[in-house]
Amino acid sequence: MTHPRPVRPAPRRRHLLPALFALLIAAAPAAAKELARASSPGGVLTVVLESQHEGRLAYRVERRGEAVIAPSRLGFLLGDGRLERNLELAGQSASSFDETWEQPWGERRFVRNHYNELRAGFAERPAGGRSVGRRFDVVFRVYDDGIGFRYEFPRQAAMDEVRIRQELTEFKVAGPATAWWIPAFEWNREEYLYSRTPLSQVAVAQTPITLRTDRGLHLSIHEAALVDYAGMNLAQGDGGVLRAALTPGDDHGTAVVRTTPFATPWRTVQIGDRAGDLAESNLILNLNEPNRLGDVSWFRPAKYVGVWWSLHLDTETWSTGPRHGATTANTKRYIDFAAANGFRGVLVEGWNPGWDGDWFGNGWRFDFTRPVPDFDLEALAAYGATQGVHLIGHHETACAVSHYERQLPAALDLYARNGVDVVKTGYVCDAGDIQRQDREGGPVVREWHEGQWMSRHHQRVVEEAAKRHIAVNAHEPIKDTGLRRTYPNWISREGARGMEFNAWGQPPNPPEHEANLVFTRMLAGPMDFTPGIVSLKGRGGQQIESTLAKQLALYVVIYSPIQMAADLPEHYAEHPDAFQFIRDVAVDWDQSRVLDGEVGDYVVFARKARGGEEWFLGAVTDEAARRLRLPLSFLEPGRRYRAEIYRDGEHAHWRTAPFDFVRETREVRSTDTLPLVLAAGGGQAIRFVPL
Ligand code: NOJ
Ligand code: CA
Repeated sequence: MTHPRPVRPAPRRRHLLPALFALLIAAAPAAAKELARASSPGGVLTVVLESQHEGRLAYRVERRGEAVIAPSRLGFLLGDGRLERNLELAGQSASSFDETWEQPWGERRFVRNHYNELRAGFAERPAGGRSVGRRFDVVFRVYDDGIGFRYEFPRQAAMDEVRIRQELTEFKVAGPATAWWIPAFEWNREEYLYSRTPLSQVAVAQTPITLRTDRGLHLSIHEAALVDYAGMNLAQGDGGVLRAALTPGDDHGTAVVRTTPFATPWRTVQIGDRAGDLAESNLILNLNEPNRLGDVSWFRPAKYVGVWWSLHLDTETWSTGPRHGATTANTKRYIDFAAANGFRGVLVEGWNPGWDGDWFGNGWRFDFTRPVPDFDLEALAAYGATQGVHLIGHHETACAVSHYERQLPAALDLYARNGVDVVKTGYVCDAGDIQRQDREGGPVVREWHEGQWMSRHHQRVVEEAAKRHIAVNAHEPIKDTGLRRTYPNWISREGARGMEFNAWGQPPNPPEHEANLVFTRMLAGPMDFTPGIVSLKGRGGQQIESTLAKQLALYVVIYSPIQMAADLPEHYAEHPDAFQFIRDVAVDWDQSRVLDGEVGDYVVFARKARGGEEWFLGAVTDEAARRLRLPLSFLEPGRRYRAEIYRDGEHAHWRTAPFDFVRETREVRSTDTLPLVLAAGGGQAIRFVPL
């Protein structure tokens, strides 16, 4: 069979100059034409949609009349060609929404969701060989503290299956800015120290990325409701513009495969004057769908301990043998310790077969459906029940994710039968090395932790767990995009450098780390950081770059509805004063406020315990000592409180005197101002008890 050859038209002779001229004119961007606009309820922010040269689409954002996001492109690189040109506005509609919803648990009980919405429908003028133009909507939700927008693809004849190779979404911050960011696509996933660079020096960053413009505005770019889609990173384009860089799928050409109708996750820009405005914003949660699980009172925010720090110190092992941590006797010791101190959970790692030998990269050997012989799961669960203590489960997959999925129902059933109602999952392997095997015995392909396939996987785990009233705390997770609103059993995750880095005898987390986390990673959602290492020592005695008081402050500063008292019981016995705060501190809140702070420098949080009258304060600083003055106006007026203060001593310094620590009480009221003295690498924690 022969293929017909394409017929080329014979070249025509033309005068070169007019042709060149025509080309130049065509290349010069025509003036942008405004298509639609929407402002936030309080008139703070305005989004403008405009049509640019050749029918390309852009949006821009103004705050009180000043440009914050300069015209930034929208569009896609699809399997069947670019979708960004020849776009015509086919219709638009506006609406408003104002509702206050209640969180089953969280940083605050009530959340107001107040926005104006703009929906703009676009149709592609049939071109480039296409007889029917493709259609999509762009939906903007404009809040006073930020914006969210997403693309929605209706069902249509011209597009059934959509293969997204790349999103062409841009974020062009108007004017120079400083950025705090971690790199994307590096082997250690989300576990990097934050870099602070000019925005123009950001390479490929993960989100959330935090920016401070030279004019002093604080911005965070992220996404909300990452469901059945690839996680978005941001790559440096021309002149400081950040471009979406979707996490690839297994064939490296396509990031997302979906069938119409579908919507992308929300692309978000939070904007505030203060750094603290970002940390107080509810925009990410608000852009997620409401609770799909109904009554979730079966999950109770709580503190936990566990067979854990000893494993990272290497004094006990995950593997069976003479130093095995997860033995029946050792776990019983932790249950007793938890019961004696009012902690609800005991995490046990190394309880199941598969840890012996080199488990890294050998996830196919893990069995999640039975314990190892020296761990009597049933007896321990029953013993815990008599003490009001629940075991916390552990599913380390080492990235053999399909192998885990096959065992998932049975594994969760085993836990449910034994009163295990929180499970910590784990995905330890290098980025891009998730192992997917669609049928048993079939080929294994590699996926990224933040790709579409993993977004589906995590959702499956969370849904299966919810059926059994089990909550999930994922380590080496997909990034948090606020899905805890929809699935309130997705309670916490890691997704940053946690305390474990301080155990490993490599450079530990520097003193500024937590002041970075609060204004970057924590904007995504709760983190299982595992604070409270009162011994201040890692493996081989390596010093942790923190004072004792700072370890306590972390319980208030780094939010999670489950908080670990991560150190060894014997270490807490050596620091009873400090330990008292860990026993007393709440984990669930009616209110949370950032009283003061600067990205990467310091932060002061005040939080009011859920359903109670106590307030807690946490302050941490970086390597610089600080003296702050703190008005206590958040306290109830007219009421007297006993302030139980846990602070750095006069000579405290993370390097030279980390244990210089003072516990004192004083009586205060809302009209008082407290001096807050933070040592280098230090912090302060206060419990306010009404008298
Ligand atoms: C890494 C997790 O962050 C850590 O908490 C856990 O102990 C190990 N993986 C083993 O699963
Ligand atoms: Ca980890």
